Amino acid sequence: MKGRSVIRIAITVLVLFVMASLGYALSNVRKGYAPRQPIAFSHKRMAGAPVMQVNEKGENVNVGGFGIPCLYCHTMPYKGRHSTLPSTAVCMNCHSTVGLNKEWVLKMKEYWDRGEPIPWVKVHDLPDFVYFDHSAHLNAKNEKGESKLPLVDEEGKPMVACQNCHGKVAEMEIVSVQKPFNMQWCLDCHRKPEMKASTDCVACHR
Ligand code: HEC
Ligand code: HEC
Ligand code: HEC
Ligand code: HEC
Ligand code: HEC
Repeated sequence: MKGRSVIRIAITVLVLFVMASLGYALSNVRKGYAPRQPIAFSHKRMAGAPVMQVNEKGENVNVGGFGIPCLYCHTMPYKGRHSTLPSTAVCMNCHSTVGLNKEWVLKMKEYWDRGEPIPWVKVHDLPDFVYFDHSAHLNAKNEKGESKLPLVDEEGKPMVACQNCHGKVAEMEIVSVQKPFNMQWCLDCHRKPEMKASTDCVACHR
């Protein structure tokens, strides 16, 4: 390759890089992100509310969700920084006997039989220089001993604390990012008088 074309390529790459970084910094890149997962796992089906229907044989069947509580699978958030994804063993508590005629349940069992974890794709992922702690949020109480994070939605219906940040996961077929998950979003909530949460740089950048 001639020296000039190398320089031209280098400049093009640099310009593209600067444009991409700018675009990233200015846009709401995270909101709406909904990666495909290796197993078609549906929160709506697993954690959603049941919907009973009578089928053609006259049997009463649940075509909605099984209402499994979030913490059955995401055990950590009240104790530690990170919420955890369930190991396949948790799924197998039920699926060693349930749903064995379903394509994706069989796929899951293949991972299990091979002794491999399911390679779930991370949906929410902050940069490493940000410190976030689930338990600090979920355990935060006001003077009356009530949860600082609202436990009812805008319509006054009860909800899990998770919904404040993750939206209505129990209604999702595929998990997507519902809020901006950028610094402004964190600060907007921390600044609310009833939250009394820190806005010091070192709280989140330590
Ligand atoms: C039966 C187990 C199970 C239950 C119950 C469950 N989840 Fe999940 N959850 C998973 C699995 C598996 C994944 C990874 C695959 C995916 O993203 O869909 C996940 C992913 C997530 C993610 C995205 C994680 C990331 O990578 O950023 C959030 C947020 C989440 N769940 C919240 C909830 C909430 C809130 C509830 C209760 C309403 C709940 N989950 C109930 C199994 C469960
Ligand atoms: C508490 C029991 C229970 C647990 C735990 C559980 N499931 Fe399920 N799951 C069910 C039931 C019940 C069904 C419905 C089976 C049917 O319709 O025959 C189901 C259905 C499914 C289906 C098929 C959906 C469809 O209709 O095609 C998939 C995929 C699935 N589960 C994945 C998972 C994964 C992955 C985990 C672990 C993260 C998990 N499940 C944990 C009870 C459970
Ligand atoms: C105050 C906002 C907030 C609340 C409330 C919240 N989360 Fe999160 N969640 C986050 C953030 C921010 C991340 C990304 C963390 C990272 O990338 O370091 C995250 C990530 C996750 C993940 C991916 C694994 C991880 O820890 O990185 C799961 C699973 C999850 N949350 C589940 C839950 C569940 C279940 C609840 C309710 C019990 C909940 N979250 C409540 C903000 C919240
Ligand atoms: C819905 C409101 C809300 C959102 C959104 C939110 N926070 Fe918080 N945060 C709180 C509350 C409430 C507390 C606890 C304040 C107290 O009682 O001390 C807190 C506390 C914290 C703490 C202090 C933990 C400690 O060890 O002292 C950190 C760090 C933190 N949040 C980081 C974040 C980051 C990073 C984000 C955005 C990714 C975020 N928060 C989004 C409400 C929120
Ligand atoms: C409540 C939590 C929180 C507090 C307090 C906070 N930040 Fe951040 N900061 C974040 C998050 C989350 C990001 C990641 C934003 C992203 O990747 O979109 C971030 C990103 C940054 C960045 C990278 C550039 C950018 O905008 O993405 C800088 C620089 C920064 N913060 C400086 C500060 C300074 C200076 C302070 C104090 C005045 C501060 N932060 C206070 C949560 C916080």
